Amino acid sequence: MVSAAAVGVVGLTGFRLLRGSDEPYLQSPFPPGFRWGTATSAFQIEGATREDGRGPSIWDTFARLPGKIRDGANADVADDHYHLYKEDVALMKAMGVQTYRFSIAWPRLFPEGRGMPNPKGIAFYQRLLDVLLANDIKPYVTLYHWDLPQALQDRGGWEQRDTAQAFADYAGYVAREVGDRVGHFFTLNEMRSFIDSGYGTGVFAPGLTLSKAARNQARHHAVLAHGLGVQAVRACARTGVRVGPAENIKIALPDIETRKNVRAAEEATRDMNAPFLTVILEGHYTDGYLKATGADAPRFTGADLKTISTPVDFVGINVYGPGAYVRARTREAGYAEMPLPASYPHMKSPWLGFAPEALYWAPRFLQKLWDVKEIYITENGTSATDKPAKDGRVDDLDRVLFLRVRGYFAWSLLDNFEWTDGYGTRFGLHYVDFQTLKRTPKLSALFYKDVIARNALV
Ligand code: BGC
Repeated sequence: MVSAAAVGVVGLTGFRLLRGSDEPYLQSPFPPGFRWGTATSAFQIEGATREDGRGPSIWDTFARLPGKIRDGANADVADDHYHLYKEDVALMKAMGVQTYRFSIAWPRLFPEGRGMPNPKGIAFYQRLLDVLLANDIKPYVTLYHWDLPQALQDRGGWEQRDTAQAFADYAGYVAREVGDRVGHFFTLNEMRSFIDSGYGTGVFAPGLTLSKAARNQARHHAVLAHGLGVQAVRACARTGVRVGPAENIKIALPDIETRKNVRAAEEATRDMNAPFLTVILEGHYTDGYLKATGADAPRFTGADLKTISTPVDFVGINVYGPGAYVRARTREAGYAEMPLPASYPHMKSPWLGFAPEALYWAPRFLQKLWDVKEIYITENGTSATDKPAKDGRVDDLDRVLFLRVRGYFAWSLLDNFEWTDGYGTRFGLHYVDFQTLKRTPKLSALFYKDVIARNALV
């Protein structure tokens, strides 16, 4: 997790050769004040889905549909973080993280999505905050990480404009309840993912395959919810609280880093994020997006655009693989997209291309295109083939190699319910035995601990 002055690898101040025999050979320090964190989301770790008055979310419903989740898994127990949260904060403390990004489950607070709050819902997060603050770990709260209350989906979910207002009401409530102890709020996590996969391809909850027009309208409602959410947090929390989005920026990378290609990649990045970050940060849909969507373009008003582009205090970006590789066209203006080479390196998840340079260019383009002053890497991590050895140690060297080139808010603290992959794909720094719920720090947790302690990549 980084701020603009100290953006991930951009903030490196050069490598230093170390002489001590037990010191790593090379060390690349980060600026003082660089914040190291780890991240999770409510649905993926909490479990206790029917406890203390929580209502069902679209993911509870979706997970029960045959064939949707690997091995027919569900998140009824997940990491049981709802009961084991103290243990999990202790894991963070042991790694030395200074910040923790977690999400609040909307259906715990408003089982019906709106109306009367369930006091037992917010009480859980108050307990979690008590423990985090007592351990000197700064909370960064995501308001929405995909667990829409099912009751709202029954009324149309993100297809309905009214859902944006319901989100703002919920966000305002959270800000009132915890805004005295939480300094940073993220509105919605990865609008692109939950709209395009939930309402477009249908592989995520609620599993709908809408027309392009309806999907584009749902995208519009999500960015509108973001804008209304920013306003609600500001209106309801103490002054000084900071708020912004956490979006999986689609990042175009220059195939060869010439000046022209870098400019082309920048332009492509602006285009590829048109329905999400670009409209949030520019206050209008690009001509290219409106032209490309044509009759399927979203319906919106000038007032909507103003709300959507309510100034944010920072931008959080989730950076995994590359969105595309591009190069400048030689004769015409614009850029050409390059196909990924067949032998492109992948981590365990087939969608996760290995592209350390994404973490370099994403914050740079964000700054260059939209003059963003404060940037957080709100997620970055990898899945790997984690298997405990006979002695119980989990030597996830592949994750260590992946971490070596980065500075960020590591996804994720624990192995968890990896959406449609169920428990079959592990992203955690801690291995979770889903039979016993025992947590074991992997080699990557120890590596990360060392990086944090030195404030340097080693
Ligand atoms: C999501 C996480 C997910 C991670 C790995 C991100 O897109 O925000 O919830 O676990 O990717 O797939």
